[in-house]
Amino acid sequence: MSESKRKVHVHEVFMRDGLQNEAVFVPTDEKARMVDALSRTGLTKIEVTSFTSASAIPALRDADALMQRIERRPGVVYAALVLNLRGAQRALDARADELNLVVSASETHNLANTRMTRRQSRHALREVCRLAGEHAKVALSIGTAFGCPMEGAVLFDDVLDIADEFVGSGVAGITLCDTTGMADPAQVRKACAGLAGRWPGVALTLHLHDTRGMGLANALAGLEAGITRFDASLGGLGGCPFAPGASGNICTEDLVHMLEAVGCDTGVDLQALIDCAAELPGIVGHEIRGQVWRAGSADRRYPRPADFEQIVERAHVRESMQAAVGS
Ligand code: COA
Ligand code: ZN
Repeated sequence: MSESKRKVHVHEVFMRDGLQNEAVFVPTDEKARMVDALSRTGLTKIEVTSFTSASAIPALRDADALMQRIERRPGVVYAALVLNLRGAQRALDARADELNLVVSASETHNLANTRMTRRQSRHALREVCRLAGEHAKVALSIGTAFGCPMEGAVLFDDVLDIADEFVGSGVAGITLCDTTGMADPAQVRKACAGLAGRWPGVALTLHLHDTRGMGLANALAGLEAGITRFDASLGGLGGCPFAPGASGNICTEDLVHMLEAVGCDTGVDLQALIDCAAELPGIVGHEIRGQVWRAGSADRRYPRPADFEQIVERAHVRESMQAAVGS
């Protein structure tokens, strides 16, 4: 009897976390075309944009127009990042399916990122929960949950305190964000294992950055500790412009490839994802970080060297000569 594969959800954040960190402004129609292409890969959640201030994140200043231009594919959740009440109202007007609220566990990063203290952010986001009500789902992302590039270590109790409060306010999901790739696999395993059963019915997601090359190792540690939802960014692009040293998210196509290789079912068509990633250098104007879009899946087979027959023949001749000498 064959064991059924473990279902793992991959949420695509390139359109938000990826583009917010790019110098280039990708035209709205081009963005809409990308969202539509990503919608057809089997991904079930796409963070389309953020409803923040245009001067803070100029690359996403077309959020309202973009949401009007995307095709809404049934079964796909179109999410948007929100930091304050004004952003929430815009996101609701634009019919975002899910508002992804953000607060950082570190006071310093929260101030640098949102110009608000954590207390002010929490107050504003509680108001957002009330406003969203029945109109849209709400999830909370907790930034710098595994470390802050300015403060250093972050108390995991602070993370839990924020999460507990918002679970109490009715959020449907909690996302732990390693904003600048400071987490290591042992830390992720311990943190995630300790959360099992803490928030029943609340979707728990890991949002990892590969800043120090530990991104996929951290994802695997999370998976082994029971996590079944991951944010990831096409081409491994991304990063918070207000977090010094930030760089790309774990790469969606590399993550999907790894998850499938270890026996999970992501429901994502890897080749379709690779085709999307291959377009990115042309769109953002530079090389991208991912690996699998270049090498292909591990089950890809390359042709043998052109002179392979001669190589075999020579090897066989030598082998028989060696055998003759040895006998
Ligand atoms: N949407 C559009 N504009 C907004 C806005 C929103 N949600 N919230 C504030 N603004 C505008 C204000 O109207 C004001 O515009 P003006 O300068 O033309 O008058 C300007 O932004 C500043 O408003 P203020 O309320 O003083 O905000 P602030 O300067 O304290 O900044 C944020 C607060 C949250 C709006 C801003 O820091 C921000 O958007 N940060 C983005 C952080 C981010 O996305 N990080 C990466 C993802 S985690
Ligand atoms: Zn991020």
